[in-house]
Amino acid sequence: MKSTEEWNRLTFSYSRTPLRFVAHYANGRWDEGGLTEKSEVVINESAGVLQYAQTCFEGLKAYTAKDGRIVCFRPDLNARRLADSARALEIPVFPEDKFLEAVKKVVAANREFVPPYGSEASLYLRPTLFATGPVLGVKPAAEYEFRIFCSPVGAYFQNGIHPLTLKVADSDRAAPHGTGHVKAGLNYAMSMRAGVQAHAAGFDENLYLDSATRTFVEETGGANVIFITKDGKFVTPHSTTILPSITRRSLEYVAEHLLGMSVEERPVRLSEAADFAECGLCGTAAVISPVLKINDHGKEIVFPDGETSPVLMKLRETLTGIQRGETEAPEGWIFPVE
Ligand code: PLP
Ligand code: COI
Repeated sequence: MKSTEEWNRLTFSYSRTPLRFVAHYANGRWDEGGLTEKSEVVINESAGVLQYAQTCFEGLKAYTAKDGRIVCFRPDLNARRLADSARALEIPVFPEDKFLEAVKKVVAANREFVPPYGSEASLYLRPTLFATGPVLGVKPAAEYEFRIFCSPVGAYFQNGIHPLTLKVADSDRAAPHGTGHVKAGLNYAMSMRAGVQAHAAGFDENLYLDSATRTFVEETGGANVIFITKDGKFVTPHSTTILPSITRRSLEYVAEHLLGMSVEERPVRLSEAADFAECGLCGTAAVISPVLKINDHGKEIVFPDGETSPVLMKLRETLTGIQRGETEAPEGWIFPVE
């Protein structure tokens, strides 16, 4: 049994756990699937996932709640978003009820890797859906695999309490009418080069703008963006080309209904970013990570309350309190695993 300090030393990286859930699609149907120890995937060299990136994925976490139960946070929304991603990529949808059963099976089978209540770590689940059938011409494959594996993880940003610095990206992650609103692997492949360049230049992440006009704030490679105005309003960019973050949608509810804040989801120009008091990134991996600065090609936008980000910290505390069973959750948000 690891100590809380050992759990807290975990980084956001893959470590193999004993069991994962795997199901296969062939001849027009999904099989029952089941748990397996095999973490390696053997596929044909011409598999659709390898040739044409026909793959999508999800990310969610399991926690030990205050009362000792192991719970997941709104996995029904991950099931639905994976179905949306699958449809966008001509992948057969994995049934949403079966997705939830598989989540339960994987967490229960790897329960000793769920960090204890009180640690900052969690068990990250990575549902993945990909084309295994061979293709040569550009068309959807005939065979697919659905897999959920899990890995205990710590914080996504290894900067401790230091707020982040973002760089306005020179490239785009999503085209208008493209795949930005779904969790397609190809969106992340698109962001690799800009990500490596941003890190090499000392930035934590890229901030992507809308690719049509390059004037509106979209999101980063792995998280949505939220702003807090000087008079305490919650503002988040509205765009059809960003991923509908489950964390962000939950925070909008928390801000409005639990903290009595006013919430606006609307297009946000980069030119108005300097007017906000706080800025943060939110997502399953990122939780809520405060941002101190955005660097727009040498011009710095510094958030005046960025060092302490008191409103974002209150939101973070409320959300993590709900996730860990310290604060009463809105109906249906907490999914007990056993
Ligand atoms: N935006 C992108 C591009 C992401 O990859 C993620 C991660 O899933 C998010 C936002 C945050 O979404 P969620 O809160 O559902 O994890
Ligand atoms: C998540 O937050 O679950 C993500 O998928 C973001 C990133 C790790 C890709």
